[in-house]
Amino acid sequence: MTEAYFGEGDPVLLVYKGRKEWLSRVGKTLHTHIGIFNLGELVGKPAGTILKSGTGKKVIAYRPRLREWVMKFKHESQIIYPKDAGIIITYSDIKPGDVVVEAGTGSGSLTAYLSRAVGETGLVHTFEVREHAHDAAKRNHEVLGLVNIRHYLQDILEEPAPLEDSSVDAVILDMGEPWRALGEAKRLLKPSGTIAIFVPTYNQVERTYEGLLEQDFEKIEALEVIERPIQLKKNAIRPVTRMIAHTGFLMFAQKIV
Ligand SMILES: C[S@@+](CC[C@H](N)C(=O)[O-])C[C@H]1O[C@@H](n2cnc3c(N)ncnc32)[C@H](O)[C@@H]1O
Repeated sequence: MTEAYFGEGDPVLLVYKGRKEWLSRVGKTLHTHIGIFNLGELVGKPAGTILKSGTGKKVIAYRPRLREWVMKFKHESQIIYPKDAGIIITYSDIKPGDVVVEAGTGSGSLTAYLSRAVGETGLVHTFEVREHAHDAAKRNHEVLGLVNIRHYLQDILEEPAPLEDSSVDAVILDMGEPWRALGEAKRLLKPSGTIAIFVPTYNQVERTYEGLLEQDFEKIEALEVIERPIQLKKNAIRPVTRMIAHTGFLMFAQKIV
């Protein structure tokens, strides 16, 4: 549960004029182009408190959402956006207590949402072949205090995951040539467990579809999530003129036998 008042070390999001944002921790000193802020002043204060810099500039202190942290992670690769993460979690039926396998970890963006979804009683096993990305994701997760994640520096195509057959509730693949990992995913999944796959092109959707059929997955679906932000401005409420037009396609299927 979120505490009503800020404590020492709590994450804090500082917003200047509704536009410029900084993420930090209560107790730190934050140096910005609009001045220096003493975040120790926030201890015992509620979210929404206004802080003044030495030069008199004002920022509002908010409790950051997980999405805000993740979007500011050090990104080592293309990340899964919140719009896709939400659908992955709901379509895969991921819930507290679940055991989930993910490949690849990348920056660990999706991993963070998965960690939140499976909760304290669940576990996320995440596999990454590049050491640099593996280390960066671990650091990103440490900052957030996410302890229900096991990071493996491992090529999932070369070596099987050190997990028992039929022991996993959901598998998520966001990696090159995911169709090559479908056999391993099937081995890991419990009967009626779900696989979710993120691929950026139609060609990869087709190749993955063929692979899912070859592995006898059932209830195969493919979709694209399009998010169109709306500009909120008096007398000018309309879609924004620029948006992220495409991230990738999502595919889902269930292991039956
Ligand atoms: C697009 S990124 C994943 C991004 C991640 N989902 C996120 O939200 O931050 C794909 C990652 O898969 C990793 N990868 C590719 N093939 C792999 C394999 N065979 N085993 C493990 N990781 C792999 C790549 O190194 C890369 O970091």
